[in-house]
Amino acid sequence: MGMPLKFGMFVHWGIYSLTGYHEQVRWRYFTPRETYARLAERFNPTEYDPDKWVALAKAAGMEYICFTTKHHDGFCMFDTKYTDFNIMHTPYGRDILRELADACERGGIRLSLYYSNPDWNCPFAYNSKSSHQFPSAGDVEDTLRYREYEKNQIRELLTNYGKIYTFFWDIPTRIADPTMNEFIRSLQPDILINDRGWDDPGDFSTPERSVPDGGRFERYTEACQSVGRESWGWCEHEDYYTARFLCDSIDKIRVKDGSYLLNVGPKPDGTIPDEAVDLVTRVGKWYNSVRESLDAEPCLVLDDKKLLTTKRDNILYVHIPDGLICRGLTLKPIDVLPKSVTLLNDNRPLEYGIVTCPEDKDWSTQILRRQSLHVWDIPVEEFASETLVLKIELDEGKIEV
Ligand code: GLC
Repeated sequence: MGMPLKFGMFVHWGIYSLTGYHEQVRWRYFTPRETYARLAERFNPTEYDPDKWVALAKAAGMEYICFTTKHHDGFCMFDTKYTDFNIMHTPYGRDILRELADACERGGIRLSLYYSNPDWNCPFAYNSKSSHQFPSAGDVEDTLRYREYEKNQIRELLTNYGKIYTFFWDIPTRIADPTMNEFIRSLQPDILINDRGWDDPGDFSTPERSVPDGGRFERYTEACQSVGRESWGWCEHEDYYTARFLCDSIDKIRVKDGSYLLNVGPKPDGTIPDEAVDLVTRVGKWYNSVRESLDAEPCLVLDDKKLLTTKRDNILYVHIPDGLICRGLTLKPIDVLPKSVTLLNDNRPLEYGIVTCPEDKDWSTQILRRQSLHVWDIPVEEFASETLVLKIELDEGKIEV
């Protein structure tokens, strides 16, 4: 069984959004610490309304929000005693995370916390064993001290904001320290922890912008992907993905019983960009319409590798994430006439029949089965921006794929 919640909204937000480029802008442009820190003087998201974020997520069928409490830049989007480089020291001056946690509570969705190990602001965070490091002159490498710093902040995060669903470490430290996850669990025993922490596999894996090979996931898996190709934080000139690409990506992960985090990057004023709202809305509409097939049991095997399947009782769902080049589909392993075939995307009935190969031809036996199910007049073009899912209702005991 996969993770308890299947679809969430990842939110990358910090003072970097003011640059309209990328959450790692400081590193990419070799910006000195002091210069970058001045962004905090301008951070004032007057349009921040977390109830709107929650409403967007819920309408799309999402069940949780994972929020960047501290990204690699070290800026904290929550009220922390352990550094002044935090949201309370900006013109906004209010605890963004507190407001988000309250909105999630009101909206009845769960909250997860992203926390970066690299910290480009902390003078003792440098870790030569890890990646994404950007120390300033005079910094020291003192990971023991830094671990205490992290623990102090984790105590704040896991005591002040209610029950947290998952803890999303980012950038593995490549230093083994089981006390870190133990500390998290001592504060919130039910929390799920990802695999990017202190050399600890945690509870779940986190493939990023990719679909792992193979069948059903063998452990809890939460894939993540942003709405655009370039960035996780807000990017003014983002190359947004097509809705179709995102539906395909979600489908491929969910069919293997994985969970999916779809990321948006709010603008400096606190609003989610229109393009991202539009994508989440369209992808969400698709997600809600085919959800029963995504929640069904992974089954996966059809002789054509491009087709994925899930099943529930006598219903077989055929997912077509790589699309069709014509309006018909022949499903070779199915050789009995189903009770019904519908296009789950809008529940319309589809026409179908059994194709029989001529029995007297020797070559016919080489075509896997002599008979196969043929579905035709599939409205491929009308649904070009969604992943098609067929719902095939068979007689009891007839699923052999
Ligand atoms: C990568 C990036 C980071 C992003 C994360 C999301 O680790 O370095 O910017 O937050 O992926 O999974």
